[in-house]
Amino acid sequence: MTVSGTTVPTLGLNDGTEIPQLGFGVFLVPPEETQRTVEHALEVGYRHIDTAQMYGNEAEVGAAFKAAGLPRDDLYVTTKLNNGFHRPDDARRAFSESLDKLGLDRVDLFLIHWPLPTRYDGDFVSTWRTLVELREGGGTTSVGVSNFEPDHLDRIVEETGVVPAVNQIEVNPYFTNEAARAADARHGIATEAWSPIARGGIAGDQTIESIAQRVGRTPAQVTLRWHLERGDIIFPKSTHRERMEENFALFDFGLSDEDVATIAALDRGERGRTGPNPNTFEGR
Ligand SMILES: NC(=O)c1ccc[n+]([C@@H]2O[C@H](COP(=O)([O-])OP(=O)(O)OC[C@H]3O[C@@H](n4cnc5c(N)ncnc54)[C@H](OP(=O)(O)O)[C@@H]3O)[C@@H](O)[C@H]2O)c1
Repeated sequence: MTVSGTTVPTLGLNDGTEIPQLGFGVFLVPPEETQRTVEHALEVGYRHIDTAQMYGNEAEVGAAFKAAGLPRDDLYVTTKLNNGFHRPDDARRAFSESLDKLGLDRVDLFLIHWPLPTRYDGDFVSTWRTLVELREGGGTTSVGVSNFEPDHLDRIVEETGVVPAVNQIEVNPYFTNEAARAADARHGIATEAWSPIARGGIAGDQTIESIAQRVGRTPAQVTLRWHLERGDIIFPKSTHRERMEENFALFDFGLSDEDVATIAALDRGERGRTGPNPNTFEGR
């Protein structure tokens, strides 16, 4: 995928499809700012957009697609099932509403947003089966999960025989989430790293700052490049156009193995999370 001289690499997923390794996320973009923000992101060159039913801005994302008028096949669109809709009939209805809001007859990727093991009698397997049905019905090209821990992945794969294409999990330099990444790799699942710059929390980090000075880039660029070097998929969010441009300019420099290891060593384990723990999060 080449846009104004920048080529965003794609990664092959286990279902034979391809995903752009860099995209744009719209969590916490208020609905009234979403259309303009996504239009700017598309102008900058992003073609992979990550939204969710929970974000309350799918309709505005869809309005931006319509205004931009790009060929559908140039876009890669992800949305996610909200926590109140895990029961199969609710999931089907909510999915169809997502397509309506986005103004699309197909998304590229549909995810279970959270596993919610303490709700729905712990049954996320029926929810997963429903997503697989939705894929078979053609409304989504790929299906995956988000915030699934290794035992959650083992269970859906064992009980359904269907391996998710991706697992979208929290990963940042302070929470490298190696156990979940290793489980993804073991199953052949691509890892998507959410909140890749820890929601801005990497600002002022001396280690990242010193690498950034040496390679002549910003701390955000170094951190985003670190994820790419590790093979993860990312979609940083910004409502500022200059930051969208900064976060897109990642393909004309690299990091040494030593720099990648130095940043990974900033891991603080559980203390480094910015979000909730998927084992206990109830989604309400
Ligand atoms: N599956 C899940 O449960 C889950 C959870 C969280 C996020 N996500 C996905 O992951 C995407 C990214 O995560 P995120 O939005 O939470 O966090 P993020 O991308 O790590 O960070 C976004 C924050 O950093 C700031 N920022 C962006 N670029 C910057 C730069 N170059 N320099 C300094 N600050 C910068 C943004 O501020 P401004 O906007 O003011 O520029 C915003 O406050 C989300 O949008 C969503 O699509 C998924």
